[in-house]
Amino acid sequence: MGIQISPSILAADFANLQAAAESVSHADWLHVDVMDNHFVPNLTIGLPVVEALGKVAVQPMDCHLMIEDPDRWAPAYVDAGAESVTFHVEAATAPVRLARELRSLGARAGMALRPATPVEPYADLLPELDLLLIMTVEPGFGGQKFLDVCLPKIRSARELIARSGGDVWLQVDGGVSMDTIERCAEAGADVFVAGSAVFAAGDPDTMVETLRSTAVAAAAAPR
Ligand code: DX5
Ligand code: ZN
Repeated sequence: MGIQISPSILAADFANLQAAAESVSHADWLHVDVMDNHFVPNLTIGLPVVEALGKVAVQPMDCHLMIEDPDRWAPAYVDAGAESVTFHVEAATAPVRLARELRSLGARAGMALRPATPVEPYADLLPELDLLLIMTVEPGFGGQKFLDVCLPKIRSARELIARSGGDVWLQVDGGVSMDTIERCAEAGADVFVAGSAVFAAGDPDTMVETLRSTAVAAAAAPR
């Protein structure tokens, strides 16, 4: 599939989400951060807003669920229009069952790891997934500083994906910007979430293109 950019609307104007989606029409996905004030200390948006956004968004929605009990709530995000649904493994009771359910409903199944969660214990789960999300900040807020400490995990995840032989996209989320995207791409990430870097830019769509071409070049550079 190659390099993809998924702007996070967490950094956009919540009073005008349709305009936010239109301002990043060159993006591959629209990243929607769902937070429940329990799994993370912040409350954002939920099913009704996702459903409304799905009717006007020009890109497919990539829902990142930072919520407790995703086993119960995640499938409803597929019904609400999300093409990709990512749950946190730390919050899931039965991640394999949940991933299979998301796929059976027709969505791509994603699984996210917080910065302190190692990837190795989940190597055997990779064939059940379409996307693995390595958080590069503690989830909960946009605009945080990128955690370099997560780079070795991106490399390990890329190796495990290669070994498993499946086509699992490797997403990074948190502090991704022109300063950090090359490091992520060199380490093996291929789907890049960027909130503040995109929506604080004068022209968000130009920033989407700039981030993409920078990542493409870094991914192609010899390691
Ligand atoms: C953080 C969210 C991110 C956030 C990224 O918990 O999952 O998607 O919006 O924002 P930036 O790019 O500003 O770090
Ligand atoms: Zn996110």
